[in-house]
Amino acid sequence: MSQRAFAAHGRDRTSLNVGWRFLRTEENIDHVVYDNILNDTNNEVLKPWILPSANNFINDADKHYQRPSGNPSTVLPQAQKDFDDSSWQSLDLPHDWAIQGPFYEGYGVPIGGGMGRLPVQGVGWYRRQLELQAEDKGKSIYLEVDGAMSYAMVWLNNKLVGGWPYGYNSFQLDLTPYFDPGKDNYLAIRLDNPTNSSRWYPGGGIYRNVWLTKVDPVHVSQWGTSITSREVSAVSAVVDAVVQIENKGNSSLRIEIATDIHVGEASGKKVGEFDRAAINLGAGERKSVNGSLKLDKPRLWNPVPNQQPNLYMAVTRLYSNNKLIDTFETSFGIRSLAYDANKGLLVNGEHVRIQGVNQHHDLGALGAAFNVRAAQRQLEVLREAGCNAIRMSHNPPAPELLDLTDRMGFLVMDEVFDMWELQKTPYDMHLTFAQWHEPILRAFLRRDRNHPSIIAWSIGNEVGEQTTGETGAAIARTLHDIVREEDVTRLVTASMNAAEPTMPFPAALDIISLNYQGEGIRDTPAYSHLNNGRRTPPQYPAFHAAFPDKMMLSTETAAALSTRGTYLFPVTDVISAPVNDTSGGNSTSMHVSSYELYSADFGSSVDKVFTSLDKNPYVAGEFVWSGWDYLGEPTPYYSARSSYFGLIDLAGFKKDRFFLYQSRWRPDLRMAHVLPHWTWPDRVGEVTPVHVFTAADEGELFLNGKSQGVVKKGEFEYRLRWDDVVYEPGELHLVTYKDGEEWANATVVTAGEAAQLQLQPDRSVISADGLDLSFVAVRVTDGQGNTVPEAANAITFSVSGPGELVATDNGDPTDLASFPSAERKAFSGFALAIVRGKRGSSGRVTVTAEGTGLQSAKTIITTR
Ligand code: GAL
Repeated sequence: MSQRAFAAHGRDRTSLNVGWRFLRTEENIDHVVYDNILNDTNNEVLKPWILPSANNFINDADKHYQRPSGNPSTVLPQAQKDFDDSSWQSLDLPHDWAIQGPFYEGYGVPIGGGMGRLPVQGVGWYRRQLELQAEDKGKSIYLEVDGAMSYAMVWLNNKLVGGWPYGYNSFQLDLTPYFDPGKDNYLAIRLDNPTNSSRWYPGGGIYRNVWLTKVDPVHVSQWGTSITSREVSAVSAVVDAVVQIENKGNSSLRIEIATDIHVGEASGKKVGEFDRAAINLGAGERKSVNGSLKLDKPRLWNPVPNQQPNLYMAVTRLYSNNKLIDTFETSFGIRSLAYDANKGLLVNGEHVRIQGVNQHHDLGALGAAFNVRAAQRQLEVLREAGCNAIRMSHNPPAPELLDLTDRMGFLVMDEVFDMWELQKTPYDMHLTFAQWHEPILRAFLRRDRNHPSIIAWSIGNEVGEQTTGETGAAIARTLHDIVREEDVTRLVTASMNAAEPTMPFPAALDIISLNYQGEGIRDTPAYSHLNNGRRTPPQYPAFHAAFPDKMMLSTETAAALSTRGTYLFPVTDVISAPVNDTSGGNSTSMHVSSYELYSADFGSSVDKVFTSLDKNPYVAGEFVWSGWDYLGEPTPYYSARSSYFGLIDLAGFKKDRFFLYQSRWRPDLRMAHVLPHWTWPDRVGEVTPVHVFTAADEGELFLNGKSQGVVKKGEFEYRLRWDDVVYEPGELHLVTYKDGEEWANATVVTAGEAAQLQLQPDRSVISADGLDLSFVAVRVTDGQGNTVPEAANAITFSVSGPGELVATDNGDPTDLASFPSAERKAFSGFALAIVRGKRGSSGRVTVTAEGTGLQSAKTIITTR
């Protein structure tokens, strides 16, 4: 932004994503650490310089940390201005240093299946020159990092500025005392990722956006606005605004504060104006001003599909002596929430059943490096299933993901911790909990509180403290009360897989959130041989009786397992069974059957979950574990790289389970999904059950024209199943009925030999901004265009023109070919190429897929 634009606006926030140098070492050779947990005296502990970065988020000023005088004694060459980094890798952010692999294979490796077999561990240094003009002298200069994994420490011009250990928070550091006006400023960021520090793939690096903000020393504080609404109706709503202002200058000033409300964006129609306020602000002081106004006929924020997710923008301006010194924009929505113990969630008075999923932060083959289009695509595929809610398991998401959920009208449960004081893995964030829980929590809340999509705050997932009696409940109350200090409009919860209704823990929460217990754990005969772990009947009734005034939901249901396109025989005749080699699993191929009847030992099939939800209609809904497959946690086969829990695989291809959810979540959709595929040369004459996912209540199945009988759904049945079909090649045809009327038909045919490839980009026009992506699916077909269901042909992708191949995948959790590879085997007939347009050069990008003995395919993507 030019100085003139700055003068017109009073604030300049620019991306710092471009132009970094990077080096990673697997070991820590720097002789510094954040904290010494190994009693290893070789390393200088830098924690005293980092802790003061938390001060703005610690409410008791007596507990603020003082920066030690001077600098640490260890001289880090990488942090010096004149360090020669020309041999380091050049790159742009967001960046995940581990995603390119290679994968670690087998046992005894530094990073095993749980953390995704990718080289996340080690120390990463990032360096970049900062251009700060002479005119910048006198301004406040802030570095803003939206996520760095992990233990970030930041130097500017040889001086240690501060840092932030928790990899999932956004954080801001004040660079003002350290910069030299002029070109010669060097920023150095050091990250340190431990092994054994996560239950899933954390990624490594500065994996979210980085910004530089220049502003007058008197300005709106970081995340300094809170905009809420009350008395909301179609007729009117009261909007309350709190704006916190700080004076980092040396003199006391009188400041005027004006906030306007616009429809949608700052450029949208102005619909309201708060009374102007004026305050005196002494040097070093922070003060908040409050305002309220009534808006007539507000356009409410509502989850889709029933209504629109309307947004407003509050524009706050600060004036000193009538001169504009800061402009700060806050996007928000007007809506009411009610949490009813018997009816569930009410948004603007309307009951909305929570049809949600859990999502980890990775973007499959793109890793943890945030990309808006990749995240939007995840939401789009989920929306197609009828999903209306996302639980951010188990950590703060990228801020842009919440912008997407606001705009797309998803409900969100925003979650901050997977553990408190009690560890889940030896080097996870329990190590920093004592000093950082308050700043982590307040930073999370202040950043996210204006997003209308967020309906509840989760302070923890399955923390060990659930079952430690009063000790654990006391921590829950502390965290709960911090939340209520920052936001009075939403309720607080934590997920419980082991707490019981009589324990103190659930009593400390506003909403009862159960993981798996709601539908019961190891409670049916198919699970009775499992002796490790909890066994409980469905817990909804007991919690409802113990907390008759608290809304209840399941923050995790199912933990059902499957591999797309894999069908194993025989098929269980019960509705839910754990996976093992005689039941839905194959530990040699490491694949799980997609009849969608199998679960983790502690889980339940979808059918069993639906039954328990329907038997307990006061439950507000569910978040399925999980929406998409994710990197790491490959239960039940830890030699694999990625999970089996999703209704969508890691590459974005729909599993059969997707359609089971769709049949319930979109009951008006005329859809009937048949499984398995019908190409079984080795099964002629063998029983090959056929199951159908549909909102219809009745169906008739024909094999080569012969009826296999009419099947009707009984009470608490969610699929149509013909378990005695004897395989013969040819055609399966299905006719379904709902309430006696014909509903949807489907046909599945036996495919011939693999003959050709077909390409299908999800978008064939993308932006040439170096960020936008096209996800190009390739399908292996026979000569007639039928998918060859078990095709595993090796495919080579190539890209020409102003674009590049970023990564490939096929959704197979066992595929350890590294993601950037242009060669990828098809898996169950499909593979994926992710293509990006080069920044600034628009044109036609040709994507080609070739495979030996197959007719190749080309598609054009236009970038502009
Ligand atoms: C839950 C846990 C999730 C995930 C899931 C499936 O217990 O909260 O993070 O691990 O099980 O294994």
